[in-house]
Amino acid sequence: MFQLSTEGLEKVKKELKRYETRESAIIPSLFIAQEENKGWISEEVIHYLSNVMDIPASRIAEVATFYTMFNLKPVGKYHVQVCTNISCCLNGGRELAAHIAKELKTDFGQMTEDGRFTVSKVECLGSCSTAPMMQVNDTYHENLTPESAMNILRGLK
Ligand code: FES
Repeated sequence: MFQLSTEGLEKVKKELKRYETRESAIIPSLFIAQEENKGWISEEVIHYLSNVMDIPASRIAEVATFYTMFNLKPVGKYHVQVCTNISCCLNGGRELAAHIAKELKTDFGQMTEDGRFTVSKVECLGSCSTAPMMQVNDTYHENLTPESAMNILRGLK
């Protein structure tokens, strides 16, 4: 059963005090929970947050399903998010995403068999001037070519 760590729970309680309405703390709390649940938001996580935050689970689920930065199924150790929005697209972002998925022998949104990678296509990550780019967990990699992207991914432990 999912439970936040003592530290994580304290962070959520702090978020609840930070805003005028409890609902405003949903997004930061989902981030905290996602980090502690190996990168994804399960139904258990939603129900746990609902109890802790005293907010209906349906409301938390609405937020979790609306924003693409919350993963609703397990992701690999490395979540490779390739931007395919306009600037990246014009600079080969779609081809880059397809190349990465092919090289890693996976489909978008699926975890590789070894559990190391999940490749996703995402909307603009705010790094348009250095397109095409990808985000791997918390790190941005910019001005990519298919080769440089694969060198980065193959170099991860
Ligand atoms: S369009 Fe890719 S970072 Fe903005």
